[in-house]
Amino acid sequence: MVGALDGDRSQARGCLVVFEGIDGAGSTTQLTLLAGWLRQQGVDLEVTREPSGGPLGAVLRQVVDGRCDLDAFALALAFAADRADHLGNRVNGVRALLDQGRWVLCDRYVLSSLAYQRGEAIDWDWLRELNRHALEPDVTVLVDTSVPVAAERIARRSSRVERFHEQAELERTRANYRSLVDAGDVGLGRLIVVGGDEDADSVFGELLAQFAPWFEAVAGAPGGAG
Ligand code: TYD
Repeated sequence: MVGALDGDRSQARGCLVVFEGIDGAGSTTQLTLLAGWLRQQGVDLEVTREPSGGPLGAVLRQVVDGRCDLDAFALALAFAADRADHLGNRVNGVRALLDQGRWVLCDRYVLSSLAYQRGEAIDWDWLRELNRHALEPDVTVLVDTSVPVAAERIARRSSRVERFHEQAELERTRANYRSLVDAGDVGLGRLIVVGGDEDADSVFGELLAQFAPWFEAVAGAPGGAG
């Protein structure tokens, strides 16, 4: 058994698994499939996302939905501030959940800030520094989907014009993700990269082929997960 189900809550810290990818990549679908699989394995988990459901996340939702605009610096600060609250909130923060032995699956995390907020106007070291406080995840799953496929998925699911959805923006963000994982100097935990162009079940098969061996090693370790 893993995490909080083994009756030994004080021993095992939960694991933080984060999902990343450009808009339309299908990372939310993969998160949902992995959450179902982990629950079947007996893992007690919570699903969350960034922007978070907290007060700063609510402001950021207005921005990403195009209902208001924020200056690029303010936006980078706001995402980092939302993440700090999401992690540290004493009531339902991610750290508190992990300390209780629960696993947390989070849709978007630090890599989103580094891939999306990177820009000519923003000093790279400053952006890195802003996000340095964030707890390193145990696993990062990057769903790497080509821009035409992602753009088609976005077009199918919504007529809303969201801020980061233009093709050029998708290209730029995908290139940023790839250079971040290639550089390997951001703490991502165990990195899993899966191609996201196929149907959801095929992508999940690829994900599980990489995730399950890691999971078995962690779940089988003395003290359970973590
Ligand atoms: P998304 O996760 O796609 O949520 P929804 O399905 O509700 O549209 O949208 C969140 C957007 O916010 C996405 O375009 C990426 C962006 N974002 C950043 O720019 N920086 C960040 O740090 C985070 C967490 C998200």
